[in-house]
Amino acid sequence: MEKAQAYIRIQELKDIINEANRRYYVENSPVLSDYEFDMLLKELEALEKEHPELRTDDSPTQKVGSDLKTSPAKVSGKEFEQFPHRYPMLSLGNSYDITEVQAFADRASKGIGNAFTYSCELKFDGTAICLTYRNGKLVRALTRGDGTIGDDVTANVRNISNIPQELKTPAGFFPTLLQPKPWPEEFEIRGEIYMPWPAFDRLNEQRIKDEEAPFANPRNAASGSLKLIDSRMVAERGLECTLYHILGEDLPFQTHDQALKAAQSWGLPVSDKRKICKTIEEIEDFINHWDSERKTLLFATDGIVIKINELPYQEELGYTAKFPRWAVAYKFKAEQALTRLLSIDYQVGRTGAVTPVANLEPVQLSGTVVKRASLHNADQMQQLDIHIGDYVYVEKGGEIIPKITAVELSKRGTDVVLPHFPETCPDCGTKLIRDDREAKSFCPNQISCPTQIKGRLVHFLSRKAMNVIAGDATVDQLYNKALVWNVADFYELTKEHLLTLEGWKERSAERFLKSLDESRKVPFERVLYALGIRYVGETTAKSLAKHFGSIDSLAKASIEELLATDDIGQVIAESVYDFLREDSNIDTIERLKAAGLKFEADAAQQKLSGKLDGKTIVISGNFSVSRDEIKSLIIAHGGKSSGSISSKTTYLLAGEKPGPEKIRKAESLGVERIDEQKFREMIEI
Ligand code: IVH
Repeated sequence: MEKAQAYIRIQELKDIINEANRRYYVENSPVLSDYEFDMLLKELEALEKEHPELRTDDSPTQKVGSDLKTSPAKVSGKEFEQFPHRYPMLSLGNSYDITEVQAFADRASKGIGNAFTYSCELKFDGTAICLTYRNGKLVRALTRGDGTIGDDVTANVRNISNIPQELKTPAGFFPTLLQPKPWPEEFEIRGEIYMPWPAFDRLNEQRIKDEEAPFANPRNAASGSLKLIDSRMVAERGLECTLYHILGEDLPFQTHDQALKAAQSWGLPVSDKRKICKTIEEIEDFINHWDSERKTLLFATDGIVIKINELPYQEELGYTAKFPRWAVAYKFKAEQALTRLLSIDYQVGRTGAVTPVANLEPVQLSGTVVKRASLHNADQMQQLDIHIGDYVYVEKGGEIIPKITAVELSKRGTDVVLPHFPETCPDCGTKLIRDDREAKSFCPNQISCPTQIKGRLVHFLSRKAMNVIAGDATVDQLYNKALVWNVADFYELTKEHLLTLEGWKERSAERFLKSLDESRKVPFERVLYALGIRYVGETTAKSLAKHFGSIDSLAKASIEELLATDDIGQVIAESVYDFLREDSNIDTIERLKAAGLKFEADAAQQKLSGKLDGKTIVISGNFSVSRDEIKSLIIAHGGKSSGSISSKTTYLLAGEKPGPEKIRKAESLGVERIDEQKFREMIEI
């Protein structure tokens, strides 16, 4: 490829890969499958090889993905203290077929020049952890972080049941002067924290009940759980750990296998699903065995790791910036299942989008029985040339709902039927319109399409919106009795109305009315989210509430003004603009205002300036006002207030009697220290 063209494609690939890394490691909500990701990375590597002058140190080919929050404002949750890794925590080179494993073996063989063996292990699909044991006691647990610095999650790791706080002495060990304890005085052991399938299914079931987004896969669930605020909650998540790599000074082992056996004898969790192989054929047998047997495991594995077993040879081969040269991962293809397509439902969502959903003959896939799969849109149905009665392949990708990836044409019978994407709404019969930007069809009848009305009502009451205790069945009852059609109708309900509903008694009616009454205190940002404006999720609603401060200023905003808000692009800006100019919506908002809902942000939430945009500030000591007031000021001027100092901290704002530990850490990391007066000058109030 020409240099100029390569330059453009490299920039593009870096952007896609960096964003995919952030979604995977920080937000735990992947946007690409591992395979898609690896293919993009390989393309970038090839281009950088062709044009080495275009390779920069910050390229994703030169560093491992980071689980540290690079954009803290966008991610809620706890800030962990961060510590440097004693040895960098690297990733593994990936391969997808045996010829690539063969190439790895050839390179190793050339580098070593002697006979050696391989240790083959499962590749656990979880989140990496580094444990430090000193004098037999667990003293610290760090996440991989960016490979150089990790988050300290020791308190959470202490709640994982199979990680010992203290090591045990194996039977038959006799202390001597030279070796008083069976384990080295200090060592690190690395491994993976993962969530077994049963715990994962239980957690997601609960999250769906609580109206929280389910985790896409056990890896995301494990990594999200490891970073929970409340350490006690970690214990309930059913996480487990497996360890696979010991590091330390002057360790007494000759082989990796010996080291793992010793760790196991001290009570550390080490997998027994390992094999020492001598030839590539043996490695291939191990791969094939687990590619089919993995379906029987209670946890997710996404491949096999092949390591040079002899430690002196590992040392000889060494590392690249990103990977060890003494190990490689062989990744399994995503697990697929073949089953029959029975029918297709066309579901209308709350915003009117019509989505085709496939009903399948039930089939076992990655630990669960799959009965339904997403078909996304009409274009995809056409691309797949899918017919009712066809045999189709289903795969679990990044999303929780499996997708249909292909049709097995060789199994197509003569009785298959071409599905017809409806032209009218399956619920209200209105002619659908197509939105080409999203390749989706919408029912434009927002006012009287029953599914859309009920969807809006359910959304309005939901936990993250107005948080009114009511299920879908209550909404159905109220709608069917024509008591509630518009969200504002809820606030005109009386006990008498509710007692006309089947099964309702005094107590349930009073509870419902009380919950509605309490919803009047819900802050503006959630009321805005509750209105159900297309594309306005929780985060967007927060940004809008913070930026505009009230529904009246939001309603006056031009498209350009809307575009000046954080995280808001053309599509959202237009959607908000149109929504607030529609008569029926204006009328609803007026009625909700009259009912006493909050349409203004609390003073503390209003953005006063952008003077601290992008700055992270840690406060310590006493100030002329309360610490909470200082924190509100930081946020109101666009900054972020954080509890602990890390390399990402911009300032340590020190009042009277600041904590000595914070001062020391700020100094060691070169974080600038400011006092209250300087802070007030910065925000000029
Ligand atoms: S050894 C220097 N062994 O997979 C890296 N890693 O995709 C040594 N992983 O970063 C890692 N199972 O978090 C090793 N049996 C295993 C593994 C394993 C899972 C993870 C690990 C690594 C990642 C690379």
